[in-house]
Amino acid sequence: MDNRPIGIFDSGLGGLTCIPFLIEEFPEEKMVYFGDTKRTPYGGKDISTIINYSTQITDFLVQSGVKMVIIACNTVSAISFDSLRAKHPGIPIIGIIKSAAEKTAGLCSHDNRIGVIGTKATVKSGIYDRFLKNIDSELNVHSLACPAFVPLIEEGITESEIMDLTIKYYLDDFIAANGIDTVVLGCTHYALIQKNIERLFPGIRIVNPSQEIISRIRRELAERELFAENSDFVNTFYASDLSEVFTGMIDRIFENTDVHVKFKSFEI
Ligand code: DGL
Repeated sequence: MDNRPIGIFDSGLGGLTCIPFLIEEFPEEKMVYFGDTKRTPYGGKDISTIINYSTQITDFLVQSGVKMVIIACNTVSAISFDSLRAKHPGIPIIGIIKSAAEKTAGLCSHDNRIGVIGTKATVKSGIYDRFLKNIDSELNVHSLACPAFVPLIEEGITESEIMDLTIKYYLDDFIAANGIDTVVLGCTHYALIQKNIERLFPGIRIVNPSQEIISRIRRELAERELFAENSDFVNTFYASDLSEVFTGMIDRIFENTDVHVKFKSFEI
C-alpha cells in the first residue's frame, strides 16, 4: 500500500485525456498533473529542448513526492524516456507508447493498414514503427505528422468547422492513398478529436493510447505493491500557464464526481 500520488505530465492538456480512465479504473489513487501549457507544443521542438523541458517536469514531480511518473505525452515518451529513466532509476516511469503499440499489434493482422498520426518529433523518431515491427515485422505501418492539431486543441477549438477541415487536410489523402483502416492517435491531444475523426471517417478503427496505458499502470502498481487506500491528498493540477481551456477541461472531467481538485500555476 502506498498513498503517495501518481505524477502525470504532458506538454499541455493532452495528457488530461488519460485522467477519466485513471479515475474510473483507480478511484483510490490521487494525482499530481503538470501541463506545460506555456511552452506547448513540444512536437516541433529540437530534441535537446524536449529532453530539457521533460527533465525539469519529471524532477518537479519527483520532488513533489509522487510514487510513479506517467509520461502522458507521446513526444516525450519517444524522445526522453531513456534519459528520464536513467536520471530517476528509483521511481517507476511509464511511457505511453509501448502499451498502445501492443494493443495495436494485437488488433491487427498483415492485411490491415495501420496509420500512426502524431507530432513531428514522434513521427520522425519512428518509435511506433519500431515497436510495432518488433512485435510483428510484417505489420503495415504508415506514419504522418499533423502539427496543426495541437495548437487548435490547446485553444479549445475542437467542435468546429476549422478542426474538421484541418483533419480532412491531413487525413483524406493519407487514409485513401494508403488504405488505412486503423488509426493510432499517437499524440494524447488527438484523443480530444477522436469523435471528429470517427464522424469524418466512419468505419475506421481507432486506438487511443490514453486508454491503453491503464493496463500498464495497473501492472506496475500491482507488481510494486503501490496501490493506494483512503488517501486524503487532493488531486493537484499544475500548469505553467493556467489557461481557461485547461481549468475548464478539468472541471468538466470531474463535474459529476465528488472528487476534489485544486489548480496551481507553476512556472517551471
Ligand atoms: N500531447 C503530446 C503528445 O502526445 C505533445 C503535443 C505537443 O506538445 O506537440 O505527443
